[in-house]
Amino acid sequence: MAALRIGIIGGGYMARAHSVALATLPVYVEGLPLEPVREVICDATDELARAAAEAYGFRRWSSDWRAVVEDPDVDVIDIVLPNAMHHEVVLAAIAAGKHVTCEKPLANTAAQAEEMTRAAQRAGVVHQIGLNWRLAPAVQQARRLIEDGTIGEVRDFRGFWLADFGADDSAPMTWKYSRAGAGSGALGDTGSHVIDIARYLVGDFDSVVGLSRIHVPFRRDPATGDPVAVDVEDDSAFLAEFSGGAYGYLQNTRSSPGRKNHCGFELHGTKGSLTFDWERMNELHFYDSRDPKDRQGFRTLLMGPAHPYAGHFWRVPGYQIGFGETKTLQFLELVRAIGGDGQVQTSFEEGLRAKQVEEAVEASVESRAWQQVPR
Ligand SMILES: NC(=O)c1ccc[n+]([C@@H]2O[C@H](COP(=O)([O-])OP(=O)(O)OC[C@H]3O[C@@H](n4cnc5c(N)ncnc54)[C@H](O)[C@@H]3O)[C@@H](O)[C@H]2O)c1
Repeated sequence: MAALRIGIIGGGYMARAHSVALATLPVYVEGLPLEPVREVICDATDELARAAAEAYGFRRWSSDWRAVVEDPDVDVIDIVLPNAMHHEVVLAAIAAGKHVTCEKPLANTAAQAEEMTRAAQRAGVVHQIGLNWRLAPAVQQARRLIEDGTIGEVRDFRGFWLADFGADDSAPMTWKYSRAGAGSGALGDTGSHVIDIARYLVGDFDSVVGLSRIHVPFRRDPATGDPVAVDVEDDSAFLAEFSGGAYGYLQNTRSSPGRKNHCGFELHGTKGSLTFDWERMNELHFYDSRDPKDRQGFRTLLMGPAHPYAGHFWRVPGYQIGFGETKTLQFLELVRAIGGDGQVQTSFEEGLRAKQVEEAVEASVESRAWQQVPR
């Protein structure tokens, strides 16, 4: 099998998730068109890069991302950098003719995301954004039940991601709490996944109106101890109208004490309802209005080989998968697309659409009025 040589740029938290996914993909999935190889990993310093290569099983390391992008022995550039760097590195990778996978949010602004999307399309390279949460088998199964008409016409969608990692005001300043570093706060961080799941299940957004809050206005610089202003939201909520007529309510916060990773949705259609909570990500709850009255109630579908993508892992429903396996599925789509055997569901276009929704929400917060989402 021919090798597909991956160069990861960024050696932090997500680099570990991507490395595990690349290592386990050929173990889980037989018949890949190409064999993913962890060729080179790049971090900001030699010390960090060497440590990342050793820990994550890469052949080589570098502290020069431009050299990695230009490296003729690298086929795919995988960007797991702070958001503000995505734009420049993605454009350089595309210019060098590489296939690209980039973490979400695609860029700090929709204008940058559009430039990256059009450049990738023009170059004809495979391009993917790390909106892996929609790849969870239960979310894929939800889409199947909507597509085959089981739920009927979707009337409303409530999506949420409640977490408390930002509630602690003594937690230090990082790039994730600054507009220059992250482009946005909870809305673009966890919210990009919720917006993507909403689009995946219900369709495009038409218009939005929202509110946001900064609860911790200053955080301490970890090096100097000086207070630094936080200029992105900790908390965001918005109402939405979808192009198909359904309405939505989406809430994203990193300031809800006790909520660790409470990400999910509830949606109602003319024939039934679906609910999903990532903290029990192997389950989809399904209510069918056509059930006889004396046995109506939500049933729990436990994901297994009968459900989309779950069959790649274990033979028995209930053996369960986790966050890491959704990254394995992301790379499965990437390797197959590059090998000419399928397409990625989450191309840059999906990242651009999510960013456009986020910017429309931000504009509505400013204007305190409904905003149209660009189409
Ligand atoms: N899909 C998901 O579920 C998910 C989850 C978490 C984070 N993310 C995304 O992944 C991306 C990375 O987030 P993270 O949590 O891994 O961040 P992180 O801060 O842990 O890692 C970023 C890494 O980039 C390195 N870096 C910074 N400047 C560099 C440079 N010039 N050259 C090379 N390396 C450099 C840093 O040293 C660090 O190792 C972000 O876009 C984030 O939104 C996605």
